[in-house]
Amino acid sequence: MQIRSIDWDDRRLTLTWATGETSEFPHLWLRDNCPSAFHPQTGERSFDLLSVEAALKPATAVLNDDGVEIVWAGDGHISRYNAGWLAVRRPGLRRHDPADVTPETWDAGIAAHLPSAEASDLAGGGKVLAQWMESLLRYGIARVTNVSTDAEAGRHLAESIGFLRQTNFGTVFEVVSMPDPNNQAYTSDALPLHTDLPNQELAPGIQFLHCLANEAEGGGSSFVDGYRVAESVHEADPEAFRLLSTVEIPFRFHDRDYDIRSRSPVIVLDRDGRLAEVRFSPHMADTFDLPIEVMEPYYRAFRLFMEHTRDPSLMIATRLAAGEMIVFDNRRVLHGREAFRPNTGFRHLRGFYVDRGEFRSRLRVLRRKTAPMAEAASSGALAVA
Ligand code: OGA
Ligand code: ZN
Repeated sequence: MQIRSIDWDDRRLTLTWATGETSEFPHLWLRDNCPSAFHPQTGERSFDLLSVEAALKPATAVLNDDGVEIVWAGDGHISRYNAGWLAVRRPGLRRHDPADVTPETWDAGIAAHLPSAEASDLAGGGKVLAQWMESLLRYGIARVTNVSTDAEAGRHLAESIGFLRQTNFGTVFEVVSMPDPNNQAYTSDALPLHTDLPNQELAPGIQFLHCLANEAEGGGSSFVDGYRVAESVHEADPEAFRLLSTVEIPFRFHDRDYDIRSRSPVIVLDRDGRLAEVRFSPHMADTFDLPIEVMEPYYRAFRLFMEHTRDPSLMIATRLAAGEMIVFDNRRVLHGREAFRPNTGFRHLRGFYVDRGEFRSRLRVLRRKTAPMAEAASSGALAVA
């Protein structure tokens, strides 16, 4: 974006762009974001905000071919700002973020076009991996096919995205029917639709389930978009939605060595009222300790949510095959499984998590190579004069 003219007063620099639009930049903001304010190697801010007056202002400010050059009154420091750099940082314009993918909610129809990629294509990193990761952020679910049934293959793919989240179940958990289970997943019982570990202060983010064997009778999988369930509860009963998004309920896991608890609403909204997270696990919900006048309406709301999770028109019902890996945002998408009969064949899934933050970080780094222009425009280090 070209700058047509500049002007300033005691508080702000005003740029008039070639389009005729104007943008205002507080002087203190300009000084705080002077290219010299950032360490040349780390890219982190090394400037001390308190080293200048709050009311600092330019002695001169001129427009040149590249952008704006300011000589500051007081210490005479010179700052140069590239026009494009200023354009993408106009106050009020949210910084471009390649990992800021708007969720699109889905219903059962997604089964016909579930985002999917071959493991060997993802292994190369680059564009294919970036697109697959973007789809995962958009829909909260994506599949990987032809993962080797080598037990470690799925984990290696996850580790190429980000380090694994460790929990009390380890960094990798083996979903098999066990003789002395400490979790319903380690039985052969059905698992109603749930998100994993809502009892953790931060529930694990992106979950990977790598299927190594699925030979037993039963053991089908189901997935449902928790955001879509929240929307449909909202349509059906706004008061139930209000209770589910405001009343904190207790979640708990405990065994011999651990007693991990948290309280959270089932539907977590961000400050703008948008869906940020769903936490739902019948087997990890602790005894509700709500006031009596809330308890009964809450049970109605909770049951309604549960009914919607089981609505066949919203749900994917599938059967994982050996060599397949299903990956989903555990803070959004609920997963469940049917009971299986362990004496009819072997069933083994391996699970691990990469938190949302690490997942998004990898996508941004991949996009540096595959969409360098967008990155240059949003990176101070690359665009400074
Ligand atoms: C789990 C789980 C699903 C399955 O381990 O938390 O939900 O299909 N497993 O066994
Ligand atoms: Zn689970």
